[in-house]
Amino acid sequence: MTGSTGPRRWDAASYDRGFTFVWKHGADLIDALDPQPGMRVLDIGCGTGHLTGAIAGRGAVVVGLDRSPDMIGQAAQNVPGIPFVIADARALPFGTAFDAVFSNATLHWITEPELVIEEIRRVLKPGGRFVAELGAAGNVAKLITTLCRAMAEAGYEPPTGSPWYYPTLAGYTNLLERHGLEPIFATVFDRPTVLEGGEGGLCNWFAMFAGWYLDPLPPPARAAVIARTEAILRPDLYRDGRWTADYRRLRVVAVRSSS
Ligand code: BEZ
Repeated sequence: MTGSTGPRRWDAASYDRGFTFVWKHGADLIDALDPQPGMRVLDIGCGTGHLTGAIAGRGAVVVGLDRSPDMIGQAAQNVPGIPFVIADARALPFGTAFDAVFSNATLHWITEPELVIEEIRRVLKPGGRFVAELGAAGNVAKLITTLCRAMAEAGYEPPTGSPWYYPTLAGYTNLLERHGLEPIFATVFDRPTVLEGGEGGLCNWFAMFAGWYLDPLPPPARAAVIARTEAILRPDLYRDGRWTADYRRLRVVAVRSSS
């Protein structure tokens, strides 16, 4: 995971153990990428490297890139033999070198989307493809609205703004077009996502991803706010011992114009 608001430090081992749904849900995005032997692919926000390894498994020559040294360390352990690079997607350390750029569940962490789109266009060869999934407008809205409500009830003012960029389909495809990437496929869909960890799954999700909201609180207040959030959400999002998060996804394929 890379980006401007995403933490640089991650507990990559816990992430790898407890959030496998992130890469498992991204596996069919590789079909949209359609890697071919010898095709040069950049995987932006490769995290712990599982999808990078799957792309390499189809014969492509892939580089995994992530801003987090912890994620890259774990990726190198998980998938030896693949080049993994620590870098910021807003300043890619490559020339025009790739037939495709791939990204799963990362680009919503970058709140200056035009910077990363410009970089993706620059590193793609003319005719090269950009294949991505990210959170769409409305992603995890129930989780975050309820967390903020619980914070306010406990006397803590929720932070203004958001650590995430969740575009609409029209907003994102317009942005791509304006920056020299022609969208040839785009869709938005709800993907209710079952969290791992049973009863603890929602608490784990907030602990891993919602530091923007929770870090300013003293630890006992954090626990109380999460418990209140769980109590409000339980009738809607907890069933048969599992929490479901209200994920909403944007998938896009775009082509770099020949100029
Ligand atoms: C997502 O993949 O949509 C996501 C992951 C962590 C935090 C927020 C959103």
